[in-house]
Amino acid sequence: MGVTGQPAEAESTPQPAQVRNVIVTGAAQGIGLGIAQVLAEAGFAVALADIQGDLAEAEAAKLRGAGHKAIGIGLDVSADASWKAALAAAEAAFGPVDALVNNAGISPRGTAEMTDEALWERCLGINLKGSWLGIRAVLPGMRARRFGRIVNIGSTRASRPLRGLFAYGVSKAGLLGMTQQVAVEYVTDGIMTNMVAPGWVDTPGERLLQQRHGREDFPAGLQNLITVEDVGRAVRYLLEPGGDRVNGLILYLDAGLHVADDAGMIYLPEAEHNRYEQRL
Ligand SMILES: NC(=O)c1ccc[n+]([C@@H]2O[C@H](COP(=O)([O-])OP(=O)(O)OC[C@H]3O[C@@H](n4cnc5c(N)ncnc54)[C@H](O)[C@@H]3O)[C@@H](O)[C@H]2O)c1
Repeated sequence: MGVTGQPAEAESTPQPAQVRNVIVTGAAQGIGLGIAQVLAEAGFAVALADIQGDLAEAEAAKLRGAGHKAIGIGLDVSADASWKAALAAAEAAFGPVDALVNNAGISPRGTAEMTDEALWERCLGINLKGSWLGIRAVLPGMRARRFGRIVNIGSTRASRPLRGLFAYGVSKAGLLGMTQQVAVEYVTDGIMTNMVAPGWVDTPGERLLQQRHGREDFPAGLQNLITVEDVGRAVRYLLEPGGDRVNGLILYLDAGLHVADDAGMIYLPEAEHNRYEQRL
């Protein structure tokens, strides 16, 4: 027996690495905030990073008031310099960042023709390039420590296109590819990279969009609604030891929407979007 009363072998066995400090992007509201809350309540130190820096800090202050470890950081995910500053701020507060949750995103509506170059640049710049910049920022530290977890927030629409979600669908399909690419490139560095792909979630951003498109009562009548807590718990699973050997997974969190591929399971403002019909 060792001095602590434990078998000597146990004293010398190194403890497996585990996630302690997490950055969640787009965490001032909606899904990102839900993820941050679930993770903070589970004992992780969470940096809530968002372009709405003041709101992120206000939410972080509420979490601190409840006895959790949290800070708010201003971050524009589409700007590399902003990532460097945000990572430095998170590490100054809690130490090395073990996990990154790329959640910040926008979902503009429009077909391929309705999408102009500015909208394309903005959507792909935040949803796709923003996630890559974040991954690139955290990789050196994770590789040096030979441990890390990356979770990208995708969408059922990454693999099941819906009419009128052109730039968004393309960005999330790209994020799916990026998830698998990074998973393959860095698995030997002890870094696990996965995607959580939710179906419809009632969030401030989605409500605003639906209202703009004439759907004042969103999410009334919507089937298989996913909650922000659902997404938070899925992310938590991937960051806890249960996720230690999970890599390159696309975790669909949509009550089977992607399997049935039945857009009729959801309610969209224009009836023609509810069903796919081949009209030649
Ligand atoms: N709501 C849904 O139905 C749904 C479904 C599937 C996937 N998602 C995805 O979940 C993520 C969050 O969506 P949400 O519905 O919570 O949206 P939301 O609009 O309610 O929240 C998005 C957050 O991201 C922040 N953000 C926007 N641009 C940013 C930038 N450049 N840098 C940093 N932060 C920025 C916003 O300030 C906001 O706090 C998105 O990636 C979205 O595509 C949403």
